Amino acid sequence: MNKRIGFIGCGKMAQAMIEGILSSNLLQPEKIMISAKSEATVEKVKNKYKVLTANSNKEVASWADFLFLAVKPDQHTEIINEIKETISDHTIIITIAAGISLQALEKVFGRKIKAVRSMPNTPSLVGEGMSAISGNPSVTDEEMSEVLTIFRSFGKVELLSEALMDSVPAISGSSPAYVYLFIEALADGGVKAGLPRDQAYRLGAQAVLGAAKMVLETGIHPGELKDQVCTPGGATIEAISSLEQHGFRGAILQAMDTCHKKTKSL
Ligand SMILES: NC(=O)c1ccc[n+]([C@@H]2O[C@H](COP(=O)([O-])OP(=O)(O)OC[C@H]3O[C@@H](n4cnc5c(N)ncnc54)[C@H](OP(=O)(O)O)[C@@H]3O)[C@@H](O)[C@H]2O)c1
Repeated sequence: MNKRIGFIGCGKMAQAMIEGILSSNLLQPEKIMISAKSEATVEKVKNKYKVLTANSNKEVASWADFLFLAVKPDQHTEIINEIKETISDHTIIITIAAGISLQALEKVFGRKIKAVRSMPNTPSLVGEGMSAISGNPSVTDEEMSEVLTIFRSFGKVELLSEALMDSVPAISGSSPAYVYLFIEALADGGVKAGLPRDQAYRLGAQAVLGAAKMVLETGIHPGELKDQVCTPGGATIEAISSLEQHGFRGAILQAMDTCHKKTKSL
């Protein structure tokens, strides 16, 4: 790809994407430019990834072909007001913020823009991201295909209608946090049963990775895969029975409802 990617905001999520983009060799570091609020972040990211740094958000905005707004949702208005006169008609603006609609973006820009709403996740850092994206009608098919190429460089991506974008943080944007909690709990259980902690993390995390791959690669229903592990009268079904009694599925569904409601309120 011979395009320039800019990041306004360079925190946890932007750095995960930058690491993914560079590791996949989609672009060289001199094709990426960043800005952040503090000099400390800019310096840290520059030293780590050798990317270009800007003196201002405007500089990134005028330089980039694809411009990521990688700041918190409540910082969008301020930043858009700062850069809107600088953006060319060809720049593709990509927000990664939860709860920011394309309509809201267009309204703040106050003119026709090419905009993409996205929801990536932090496993992009290791090339295993899961992103969902939706573009406005001004983004051509060719441009959307370039956007997909960028997101595919750090993981998988699904195209969604914008109406569904608020549903994504709960299932893939935020869910790595729930999975880390699960892995931590697995490891605690292993330690309780006498395993060394470092081995407990490896055993738990690899089991989660393997189970996820089974779902994705075999196409077998997760319920059937669960049944395959449960020997009649065995130890696994005892664990499943206990999880059901303690409302495991219900707790996840309720957590996702809460996440969804919060996303819509942002
Ligand atoms: N973290 C996730 O797992 C995740 C997943 C999907 C989507 N997101 C979305 O990604 C966005 C960023 O989240 P994050 O977790 O990466 O947050 P973060 O680590 O706090 O990063 C936010 C970045 O914005 C910068 N910033 C703040 N004000 C700025 C300004 N006026 N001009 C330029 N840069 C400014 C900050 O600079 P300093 O570093 O100098 O303070 C920081 O680099 C959010 O909208 C969130 O909804 C996050």
